[in-house]
Amino acid sequence: MGKKNIEIAGASDGTIEMLKKAYSLEMTAFHYWHYIDQYVEGLGMLHSDFFSESANDELGHAKKVAFRLDQLGAKATDNPQNWAAESGLGNLEPGKYLTLRSALEHALDFERYAIAHYNELAGNTQGKDHVTYHLALDLLSDEAKDEQDIEDILNRLEIS
Ligand SMILES: [Fe+2]
Repeated sequence: MGKKNIEIAGASDGTIEMLKKAYSLEMTAFHYWHYIDQYVEGLGMLHSDFFSESANDELGHAKKVAFRLDQLGAKATDNPQNWAAESGLGNLEPGKYLTLRSALEHALDFERYAIAHYNELAGNTQGKDHVTYHLALDLLSDEAKDEQDIEDILNRLEIS
């Protein structure tokens, strides 16, 4: 942790909690994509790279969030059993969404949830905690891209 960092960023109420929630959200999303990558059925096999890359992306996000928490003198929740509740996503139950369409439609829900969360984090830190603010924007644009990519795949599934 950095003292000056905490002194400057300390003004933003709720930031630590929002970052902890973000970590749990990313780890929950990571496992979802990872699980889908292992067990997706039918046409989904053609998108294996997309699932594994999405899993890696979420893991990368979790790492960035954990790094920022550390700078602020806090730690992410260490118990995987608490991630579903802390993330606000609940248990994503990837085993119930193993067809390509259902996997992607379910994922759209949590990608949009992540977009809303990072938008809120950005609003909470803007003009106060610049480092967290930039992290929020970085993650927000990544999640927005994920949403677009998923929508694009779903649109291509339409047969006219
Ligand atoms: Fe993410």
